[in-house]
Amino acid sequence: MIQNFCFTSWTRLLGLGTAVVLLGLAAGCSYSHGDPAPACDVAHETITYAGVISPIFDANCRRCHGSSVAATLGGGNDFSSYAAVSGYPQSSLLGCVRHENGYPPMPKNSGQLSACDIQRLEAWYAQGKPQ
Ligand code: HEC
Repeated sequence: MIQNFCFTSWTRLLGLGTAVVLLGLAAGCSYSHGDPAPACDVAHETITYAGVISPIFDANCRRCHGSSVAATLGGGNDFSSYAAVSGYPQSSLLGCVRHENGYPPMPKNSGQLSACDIQRLEAWYAQGKPQ
C-alpha cells in the first residue's frame, strides 16, 4: 500500500514537473528575438480606456496630441481625454495607426505602434469603447 502510494505520488510529481517544463518552453518560444515584452494575448485582456488605451496615448501620442500642445504639434487634434479619443472617427484613427493609404501615418515621425497595441485599439472599438 505505502509503496504503491509512493509510486503514484512520484509519477504524479514527475508528470507535473514535465508539464511545468513544457509550459515554460512554450512560453519561451512565443517571445520574438530580443523582445522583452510578454506574449500578446489581447483576447484575454480587459481593455478599458483608463487601463490600456490612455497609457498607449500617453506613451506614443500625447507629446503632440496633449491638450497644451495639440494646436502647435498635433495639427489641432487634441487626444487628451476619453471624450476626445472616443469621439474621434474610428476609421480615421485606426487608418493612421495602421498606416493605411490616405491617412497620415501615426505616431508621426517615429516607429509604428506595436502590433499588440494596434490590436488593443481594435479590441477597444469592438467592445464599444469602454471607459
Ligand atoms: C510628433 C508629433 C505627433 C505624434 C507623436 C503623433 N501625432 Fe498624430 N498628428 C500629428 C500632426 C502634426 C497631425 C496633423 C496631420 C499631419 O501633419 O500629418 C496629426 C494628425 C493625427 C490625426 C488626424 C489625421 C487626419 O486624418 O487628419 C490622428 C487621428 C492622429 N494624428 C493620431 C495619432 C495617434 C493615435 C498617435 C499615437 C499613436 C499620434 N497621432 C502621434 C503629430 C503627431
